[in-house]
Amino acid sequence: MFEKTSYPENPRERRELLLSQLSALTEGERDPLPNMANASALLYQGMEQVSWAGFYLLKEGMLVLGPFQGLPACIRIPLGRGVCGTAAATGQTQLVPDVNAFPGHIACDAASRSEVVIPLFHGERLLGVLDLDSPVENRFEEEDAQFLRQVCALLSQGCDWGEP
Ligand code: SME
Repeated sequence: MFEKTSYPENPRERRELLLSQLSALTEGERDPLPNMANASALLYQGMEQVSWAGFYLLKEGMLVLGPFQGLPACIRIPLGRGVCGTAAATGQTQLVPDVNAFPGHIACDAASRSEVVIPLFHGERLLGVLDLDSPVENRFEEEDAQFLRQVCALLSQGCDWGEP
């Protein structure tokens, strides 16, 4: 069900299938940890040319590595630092076609060429960010960012995030 090869080639159909799979995977489970773990595995397996997919979570004013798939990554990122810290500090999606041209980009994996980071909100509360890396320059397009914002919305609504 989740092998890369069994996904539709059409990007829009692929994204729709991934969303419905995430919805099915998270149904009936409100704990954020397993839901984020499954979301990162699904995105890593289901999206083409993605070398890292996962979450950084806001803890005591800093982004701390959460569930992910891919190579081991840096653990703590201050707000405002790198692509993730910029997404968290501004609350805005960061779509970076060339990470080498992004001031302050944090190179966890030297092979990374492009990146997209989505802030994860529950209402007005910033929970963290969803980060995807690719070894291919200019891999992510606005449609990918929109899809990943839907993934974040699903997780935001589908989990109990507890008290800040
Ligand atoms: N490149 C990110 C750091 C996290 S890794 O890509 C997993 C950044 O600049 O924030």
